[in-house]
Formats: sequence, C-alpha cells, structure tokens
Amino acid sequence: MSQTHTEIESSYHESAAAAEIHRIRENLRIEGYAKADDSALGFPADFRDKLAWAYFNDEVLHSDVPDIPVDRKRARDVIYYEWHDSRLDLSEYENILIKNRGNIPGERKHSRVLLLENDYARNFIRTCLTLIPAGSRHDRGTLGVNLFRTFTQVVTRPHKDNEEYIIIYVVDKIGTGAESYLYRAENPDSLVFSATLHPGEMLIFKDDLFLHGATPLVPTDGQGAQRDALVCTVDYQGTYLALRPDMITG
Ligand SMILES: [Fe+2]
Repeated sequence: MSQTHTEIESSYHESAAAAEIHRIRENLRIEGYAKADDSALGFPADFRDKLAWAYFNDEVLHSDVPDIPVDRKRARDVIYYEWHDSRLDLSEYENILIKNRGNIPGERKHSRVLLLENDYARNFIRTCLTLIPAGSRHDRGTLGVNLFRTFTQVVTRPHKDNEEYIIIYVVDKIGTGAESYLYRAENPDSLVFSATLHPGEMLIFKDDLFLHGATPLVPTDGQGAQRDALVCTVDYQGTYLALRPDMITG
C-alpha cells in the first residue's frame, strides 16, 4: 500500500527527530553536554505558547521566601519513571520535597504542578528522558521539573545541582543577557560552553562534570526583562528513592 503525502512527511519528521536525539546522546556521551532546539526534536509549532499559557502565570508560579535570587517565581513537579525496554511509563511522584538545595538549608516545599495532566508537558518530559544515552539510564528513577520565572539574576553563581543530568529549556524571554555557561568542574577557570539560550533552545549536561550558571538578565528599553525556563534534573536514585528502597533497582 502506498503512503500518503502526510504519512511520508510525518515519517520524515520522526526520522529527523530520531537523528537529532542520536546526535544529542552522542554529544552527551563524548563531551558531557549538548545544545539542542525544540523544532529539531519535532515539538509542535505551538509548543512553547501552550506551555507558557498553561504554566507561566501568577496562578501557578509563586515566590518562595526566602529564595535566591529573591525575586524568582517558581513551581515544581517530580515525575517517577520506569523504562521497560523502549516503553517509558510515567507517573506523578508522591512528593516534591527537596532538602538542603542551592545553599538554602532545610526543607523546601514549592508550589506543585501536575505536568502529566498536560499532553504538551508530558511530551516534553518523555523527550527529556529519551535524550539520556541508553547505556547511562536507570531502569527507574525520578525527574525533577522546575518552572522558573526570573527578572534580574537567573542564578547567583556557578554551581552544581548534585543530580545526574540537568536540562535547561527556555520557554520565553524578554531582554538580553542570561548567557548560560559551563565551567569544567575540576578546573573552574576552564570555560567549556557559553551561549545565550533563546526561546526553544535547550542545554543538557552531566551535572558532575561542570559548574553551571547564567549571567544576569539585561532589560531592554521600556520592556524590562523576564525569562521563563524549565530546568529538569534527572535525579540520582538517592534523591527521592533512597526513602523507598523497594523502588530502587540500580
Ligand atoms: Fe542549577
């Protein structure tokens, strides 16, 4: 049976996205980081608009007190995943509590979103987990998803998040600046990557190899500055699952 034009086009987009995923995995394996963009990964044209409309608003995002940077607004979700060969099962994890993160001592409980309820967000999460090279994956684990809206400082200084992989995806941005950088962890004078992520662009890296961060946002005349980003952590098993030994498989 011959394929329709639409079928041929969609299989072309699928194979182009598969090639892009392969490139990202190879860069991660060899260099420890990769830059990507959402169109090459096959995200729909209205993807960022839909995410922005659903989540990047004052009903969802809230300021934490104290938080660093002080004017940051945020929300968070934690997804539990299981790989069964090429099948990926996702569910909402039971809690989103983080302890002693980002030099802010004690327990931190942020406002929660349930991203799996949204087809666009679920597709984003699925893609993020698919980018991890198959040989480095755990059979099961957690993915932390942070939604950040920043206005001035994006972060305070170069740091690690102490998780396995970090994925930064910029949804929207007003103003300039916010240049993302990676310094080599064992030699903090060695700059490995430096570029401004524009809306739709993504940076993924192995957290323990680098110190990461971003320069401050710079307002443009009359419009101020604002950056909406999703920052995902492919967590170590100890982050959440250490409390649930029944869920750890190694
Ligand atoms: Fe970070």
